[in-house]
Amino acid sequence: MKISVIGCGYLGAVHAASMAELGHDVIGIDVDEVRIDTLARGKAPFHEPGFDDILQKNATRLTFTTDMSVVKEAKVHFVAVGTPQASDGSADMTYVNSAIEGLLPFISEGHLVVGKSTVPVGTAERLSEQVTSTGAVLMWNPEFLREGFAVQDTLSPDRLVYGIPEGDSGEWARATLDALYEQILATGTPRLLMNFATAELVKVSANAFLATKISFINAMAEIAEVTGANVTQLADAIGHDARIGRRFLNAGVGFGGGCLPKDIRGFVARAEELGVGQSLSFLRDVDAINLRRRGRVLEMLVEELGDLTGKTIAVWGMAFKPDSDDIRDSPALDITESLARAGAKVVAADPAALLPAQRRLAQSGLSDSISLTDDHLVAARNADALVIATEWKQFSTADPVVVAGLLATALVIDGRNCLDSDAWKKAGFRYRGMGRS
Ligand code: UGA
Repeated sequence: MKISVIGCGYLGAVHAASMAELGHDVIGIDVDEVRIDTLARGKAPFHEPGFDDILQKNATRLTFTTDMSVVKEAKVHFVAVGTPQASDGSADMTYVNSAIEGLLPFISEGHLVVGKSTVPVGTAERLSEQVTSTGAVLMWNPEFLREGFAVQDTLSPDRLVYGIPEGDSGEWARATLDALYEQILATGTPRLLMNFATAELVKVSANAFLATKISFINAMAEIAEVTGANVTQLADAIGHDARIGRRFLNAGVGFGGGCLPKDIRGFVARAEELGVGQSLSFLRDVDAINLRRRGRVLEMLVEELGDLTGKTIAVWGMAFKPDSDDIRDSPALDITESLARAGAKVVAADPAALLPAQRRLAQSGLSDSISLTDDHLVAARNADALVIATEWKQFSTADPVVVAGLLATALVIDGRNCLDSDAWKKAGFRYRGMGRS
């Protein structure tokens, strides 16, 4: 089948290449010329394991362009543009609205528009009026991929969610998307049919639940810190209860990235617009707990070292999570900037996120106090303390004896609770974890 994917960011680019991997001919469209150029050369514009491979392997079935008019060659059009956070916390719908407006002149009866972007509930109903005025049909098919596992999550998702209109057009939309996803469905992937509002809510409520789970365990970490309890042992113990589950119960400096933080804020803003703000007021606490944990690292360093002016702090990690070069709302970057503002000299290391971090720091005016390297051992040299801010494997498996030999003071703040605390203590470290000592 010939399809188009509008928006070639994280979501769209991976979706386009994955659809080509399933055997479809795909046109990827984006307004960003540099990104389109990179993708057209078979290169990934971001760090994502396995993405380069499927991009190159399926090059003959993939076209990337900035020219919207080529969508007329396709019958199914995925809308995968971003919905960043607006200044009031709500989701900025500019890109979704302009993608739909850009599509309208080129679609007609027999065309299916499939929304994949994360949108405020009610959006699909509104856009459906525009799309059906051309004779085409709109459906909503939210995406649940995680960065770092994007290809795997797209090709082997936990479930497929179809938000469809009532009646024959909904049935036709379902059959069309079923044909496109035939290989995924053949493996037994559950496919759930629902109306637009439910499909939109499934996506944001899933992210809100995950954020709540992380903030729950981080709240327990706060209690553990004043009682001498160990939050990792607590998570292991409650996680054995299948109703709770152990995943997403890792306490630390909290969640970041381009999705969880902005999605919970957008969800709160939408609930308020709908007059049910109270229903989601707990998400404000989820957000507050999350941001508080970033500040805790600075507090711990002051507890250990006193005034940070002139102190050198090594920070391992810049990306919001391992196996990613994404620094959007990254706790690691936030912590680095707060240390620099407190007068410290920071040497930060990340194996993948150096370039984006460099660009961001150049804008922050803090670049004089922060230097960056891709070598975590270089960053540790002569530092007064080490902060683990992202749990890259090379950090969690570093030899504490070697690291102790590099630092000026053997002090480690394990912001991701990813180190073997006994081994680090044995190597002479003063070890401070998040909710565990
Ligand atoms: C998240 C969701 O997990 C995806 O299902 C969803 O499709 C995606 O957002 C999206 O809306 O597009 P992602 O942002 O890639 O995916 O990252 P996660 O793996 O969810 O991690 C988010 C943050 O939570 C990271 O900063 C991570 O370090 C943190 N985290 C995760 C914890 O602090 N503790 C945990 O136990 C798990």
